[in-house]
Amino acid sequence: NIKSSHNENVIWSDALLTREERQNYLKSKHVGATLWVTGLSGSGKSTVGAALEHKLLEAGDNIRFGLNAGLGFSAEDREENLRRIGEVAALFADSGVIAITSFISPYKRSREKAREIHERMGVPFFEVFADVPLEVAESRDPKGLYKKARAGEIKNFTGIDDPYEAPDAPELVLPTHQLSVEESCEKTIAFLKEKGIIK
Ligand code: PPS
Repeated sequence: NIKSSHNENVIWSDALLTREERQNYLKSKHVGATLWVTGLSGSGKSTVGAALEHKLLEAGDNIRFGLNAGLGFSAEDREENLRRIGEVAALFADSGVIAITSFISPYKRSREKAREIHERMGVPFFEVFADVPLEVAESRDPKGLYKKARAGEIKNFTGIDDPYEAPDAPELVLPTHQLSVEESCEKTIAFLKEKGIIK
């Protein structure tokens, strides 16, 4: 139960306004939701996310410098990284903004957990797959990390010696090697309109 805590002195407080009332108050042109963008390093997650942010509102990036400083890339650390991001994204989305997360989120289980957090709060959640073949991501190699991973200088690199579990049923697929950034944004915005997230 979301409203019970491990400490009897930590007590759930119900919001005074419903989400709908808060959103009316904000007079926004959209309702809150999370766009959970997943994909390999170099798949264009952040590029599309940043372009959308320009057109929409919120985004969280560089989380590993702040909230999740100290977490590495072991399976456990990735899961904890994504668990925290899931909780924070759900809070943002619950406040009425469109939260766009751009993290590899390589394991199905972590993405499912993020979805569950949103379902628990009644907040719309959409999995967006930045879908490019590994060869494409590796040939882009904007940070030179694939090269280092191939050389054995980085361990547990996603797609090389750590798995990327592609989504089975993402709500939206963006093949960023076939679409321009503009086209990916347009496709996402059309999707959000269709879902009633953007009016
Ligand atoms: S995860 O798996 O979702 O927790 O990863 P994420 O928080 O998105 O961090 C991915 C970025 O960290 C850099 N990096 C690595 N990625 C994958 N595997 C390993 N071992 C690794 N080490 C560092 C890399 O720059 C990723 O950035 P993006 O933006 O995806 O290219």
